[in-house]
Amino acid sequence: MSKLNNWINERMSVNRVVEDHLTKYYAPKNFNFFYFFGSLAMLVLVNQIVTGIWLTMSYEPSGDGAFASIEYIMRDVEYGWLLRYMHSTGASAFFVVIYLHMLRGIMYGSYQKPRELIWLFGMTIYLVLMAEAFMGYLLPWGQMSYWGAQVIISLFGAIPFIGPDLQQWIRGDYLISGITLNRFFALHVVALPIVLLGLVVLHIIALHEVGSNNPDGVDIKKHKDENGKPLDGIAFHPYYTVKDIVGVVVFLFVFCIVVFFFPEMGGFFLEKPNFEIANQLKTPVHIAPVWYFTPFYAILRAVPAIGGSAFPGVVAMGAAIAVLFVLPWLDRSPVRSIRYKGWMSKVALVVFCISFVILGILGAIPGNDTRTLISQICTVLYFAFFILMPFYSSMEKTKPVPERVTG
Ligand code: HEM
Repeated sequence: MSKLNNWINERMSVNRVVEDHLTKYYAPKNFNFFYFFGSLAMLVLVNQIVTGIWLTMSYEPSGDGAFASIEYIMRDVEYGWLLRYMHSTGASAFFVVIYLHMLRGIMYGSYQKPRELIWLFGMTIYLVLMAEAFMGYLLPWGQMSYWGAQVIISLFGAIPFIGPDLQQWIRGDYLISGITLNRFFALHVVALPIVLLGLVVLHIIALHEVGSNNPDGVDIKKHKDENGKPLDGIAFHPYYTVKDIVGVVVFLFVFCIVVFFFPEMGGFFLEKPNFEIANQLKTPVHIAPVWYFTPFYAILRAVPAIGGSAFPGVVAMGAAIAVLFVLPWLDRSPVRSIRYKGWMSKVALVVFCISFVILGILGAIPGNDTRTLISQICTVLYFAFFILMPFYSSMEKTKPVPERVTG
C-alpha cells in the first residue's frame, strides 16, 4: 500500500490535497448546530444523484409513458418504491437543509468580506436547485406536475414583448407536451446536476481559500501559534469529520422515518393531485407549488396585476430572490455575527424569518381577501429587511466583539 501511495504521490500529490483540505485545514473550534448543514447538503446531493440514476433506469420520459412508468417503479421494480421515496423525500430534505444553511449564513454574517464569493456561489446553487426541483416535478406527469408547470411557465408569458415567444420556446410546443417533458428530463438528469456539482466545487474552493466563519464572527487567523496554526482552530479531520458523522446519523434517522412512514408528508412532499395522470382538459381546483416554493408564490400572488397582466407579481417574485444575491453589499455592520449586532438587526432578522414562514403557509393555501392582505404585509416586511439593512446595520450600537472565539 505504501509503495502504491508513493507511486501515486510522485505523480499527483493526493497527500497535499488531503492535508490542505482535511488534516491541515483548521476550522474554528466553536462550530454549533447550524454548521452541520453544509455537509448534510452534500450528503443529500449525493443521495439525489445516486437514487436519480437508478430511477432513470426504469423511468420513461414520454407523455404517454411517464405516469405509468412511475407506477411501474412503485409496484414492480425491486425496491423501486424505496428509490422513489428517497428521491422525493430527498428533494424536500434538500430545501430544509439549504434554508437552514442560508439562515446560518445570514445570522453569522458569513457573506461579509472576505466571503462574498462563497455567498454568490451559494446563491447560484440555490437558483439552479430551484430549476432542478421544478423540472423534476414535471417528470411524474401527474395533475400537479402538469398544472404547476403550466402556472410557472405562463409567468414567463407575462414579460412584455418577448413573453409569449419565450413561453413557447421553453415549452417547445404550443402547450406543455411530451416535448416539454423530454427537454425537462434532459435538463433534470444531465445538464443541471453537472452545473450543481461544478458550483459546489467552486463553493468549497472559495470557502477553503479564506477559511470558515464561526458563530462569533471573529477571524481565527489573527491569533496563530509559532507553527502558524490558528489558536482557535482545530483540524477538520479528524475533529469535524467525526462531528459531522453525528449530524449525518441524526439526519438519516429523521430521513428514514419520513421515507418509511410519511413519504407523502400529508400532501406536502408529494401532492395529492399528482396521483392522477396529467389531464389537459381538467384544471385542479387549487394549484399550489411544493412547499419550498410557496413563500415566493405568495409574493407573486400578493402583488396586484396591472391591466390583467401578472407582470408586477413576477417582478416582485424575481426581486425577492435577486435581492439575496446583493446581501453582502447591503450589510454595513462593523460586526459579523448577530450575537454582537444591535437590537435593530435582531428584530429585523426575527421579523424577516416570521414573514418568510407566514408567506410559505399562505402560498400553500387558497387565497381570500384577508390572506391577500396578510401576504402583502409580509411581502413588505420581507423586502424591508433588505432595503433598510444599509441603514439599521450602520446606525445601531453594536456590542464589542471578543478577540478570541467564545465557548
Ligand atoms: C448543494 C448545496 C450546497 C452545499 C453542498 C454546500 C456546502 C457547504 C459546505 C460543506 C460548507 C462548509 C461547512 C459549513 O459551513 O456548513 C459551506 C459553507 C457556506 N455555504 Fe454552502 N452549500 C450549499 C449551498 C449554499 C447556499 C444556497 C448558500 C447561500 C446562499 C450557501 C452559503 C454558504 C456560506 C456563506 C458558507 C460559509 C459559512 C461560514 O463559514 O460560516 N451555501 N457550504
